[in-house]
Amino acid sequence: MRQLKSIFFRFLIVLFGGMFSALQIAEDTGIMRFSPLKESAYEILEVKCNTCHRKQNPFKVFSYKNMGKYAPKIYKEVFVKRRMPKGDEHHLTKEEYDVLEQWLLTQNIP
Ligand code: HEC
Repeated sequence: MRQLKSIFFRFLIVLFGGMFSALQIAEDTGIMRFSPLKESAYEILEVKCNTCHRKQNPFKVFSYKNMGKYAPKIYKEVFVKRRMPKGDEHHLTKEEYDVLEQWLLTQNIP
């Protein structure tokens, strides 16, 4: 009986571990999106940044998957140097700055 219990618990651990990794993979690959904050930040990057980057700086087109990697650069360009968004046509609203900032705060920027 004891052995049965132990097998059962091991089964549960593997089951939940597996579910958790599957969710993590789905999130990382962008198949599924779970974070509303990241989702909103991504929408801003797509509308206010990618529209221009796609033409002028194709090596830095932000995606749901790569935006975490670019977070330190995004922070530097938008909040420190204030070089981005470049030009007069792509201003961020106060709300958009807030959303980006809130998301960047979750990103462990050095
Ligand atoms: C109107 C065009 C335009 C818009 C809008 C724009 N960018 Fe850029 N961005 C560029 C160009 C061109 C470069 C490459 C040359 C440079 O660094 O100035 C660049 C470079 C960058 C870089 C790379 C800097 C580096 O050191 O490699 C980052 C990060 C960046 N942009 C972030 C953003 C973010 C975030 C937004 C939106 C909030 C944005 N950009 C909006 C044109 C734009």
